[in-house]
Amino acid sequence: MAEVVLKDVVKTYGSVYAVNNVSLTVADGEFVALVGPSGCGKTTTLNLVAGLIPMSGGDVMIGDRVVTDLDPKDRDIAMVFQNYALYPNKTVYKNLAFPLQMRKLPKDEIDRKVQAAAKVLDITHLLERKPRELSGGQQQRVALGRALVRDPKVFLMDEPLSNLDAKLRVQMRSEIKRFHQDLKATIIYVTHDQLEAVTMADKMAVMNGGFLQQYDTPANVFANPVNMFVAGFIGSPAMSLIPLTAVTRGTEVVLTSAEGWELPLSPANAKKALSAKSDKVVLGARHSTVRLHKTQVPGSVPGKVYTVEPTGDVTFAQIFVSSAILNISLGPTVQISPDESVFIEFDQERMHLFDGVTEMALKAV
Ligand SMILES: Nc1ncnc2c1ncn2[C@@H]1O[C@H](COP(=O)(O)OP(=O)(O)OP(=O)(O)O)[C@@H](O)[C@H]1O
Ligand SMILES: [Mg+2]
Repeated sequence: MAEVVLKDVVKTYGSVYAVNNVSLTVADGEFVALVGPSGCGKTTTLNLVAGLIPMSGGDVMIGDRVVTDLDPKDRDIAMVFQNYALYPNKTVYKNLAFPLQMRKLPKDEIDRKVQAAAKVLDITHLLERKPRELSGGQQQRVALGRALVRDPKVFLMDEPLSNLDAKLRVQMRSEIKRFHQDLKATIIYVTHDQLEAVTMADKMAVMNGGFLQQYDTPANVFANPVNMFVAGFIGSPAMSLIPLTAVTRGTEVVLTSAEGWELPLSPANAKKALSAKSDKVVLGARHSTVRLHKTQVPGSVPGKVYTVEPTGDVTFAQIFVSSAILNISLGPTVQISPDESVFIEFDQERMHLFDGVTEMALKAV
């Protein structure tokens, strides 16, 4: 296995920057998820690592080699795509053996590798079947097997689970994670599903508009999003973002809304708010960190219930707060109805503040 390094990688199509100056290091044996909305440059980045498209700038290193000018076949990588593209008329065994036959390996070595991969993926009993006689998840495992027999330095996977139904996706998610743990493989895995990334990856690279926004462990990205885009993209339901104005009142700093309510900030949050480029500050709150009250308590702000969605053990609700919609979660016994007036209390320790101009997270200086 090997480390993968992207250094100032650029890919342009005419005037469009599909990938804009992306640098990141995937350590040997690490599982990195590339996430972001449709069109943000995930597939393009993966294809540049694979060498399937020429780069407009920058370098890619795999192991200790610069591979920027090497063909895909010389990069020692294996790709698993969304459509597994198995050979329909070959048995599973022959599907797995084919890439090795192309490399003219001796027959007994091919057999040894095919049997070993089949064992890892638990498809030994399927080796004589044709792809059409397999379930979606089994076909997916054969596709993984075909990558595995080649013993590559790096696995590149582009949305490999997106053709599967919801239940099978969850199951295959655990299997790929297991596959990674057993093989200690270096994996770069593209998905637009942030939950998939959070549950599977050691680190996630969040992209938007061709730029790398944040590269860190899922826990750190969730706890400390660097900007409003990452804050709103990672987490479900999404973090709510409420644009407000910071005002100094004597020794205190408060956030004020256009409607005239004021939210006093703790000393640490006051420092952050004052470090913004202007008085425009955006309050970010995750659903699990806000409390709903039926009557006003100190430090709470008014809101109006928009929607209520019971899911069994948790009820999700959306509340109008100033000009924004706030996602909250409630215990199943709390009764609220649309249009009801309520009060929202924010946890000062767990609230996020962003600069309303630059959209970057504000840090206590
Ligand atoms: N061959 C091409 N010619 C021109 N523009 C392209 C080409 N391939 C990709 N793009 C553009 O580059 C950008 C990034 O595309 P890319 O396929 O990498 O997105 P993605 O993040 O994989 O999206 P998705 O989640 O929809 O698969 C998009 O704006 C896309 O329209
Ligand atoms: Mg894509």
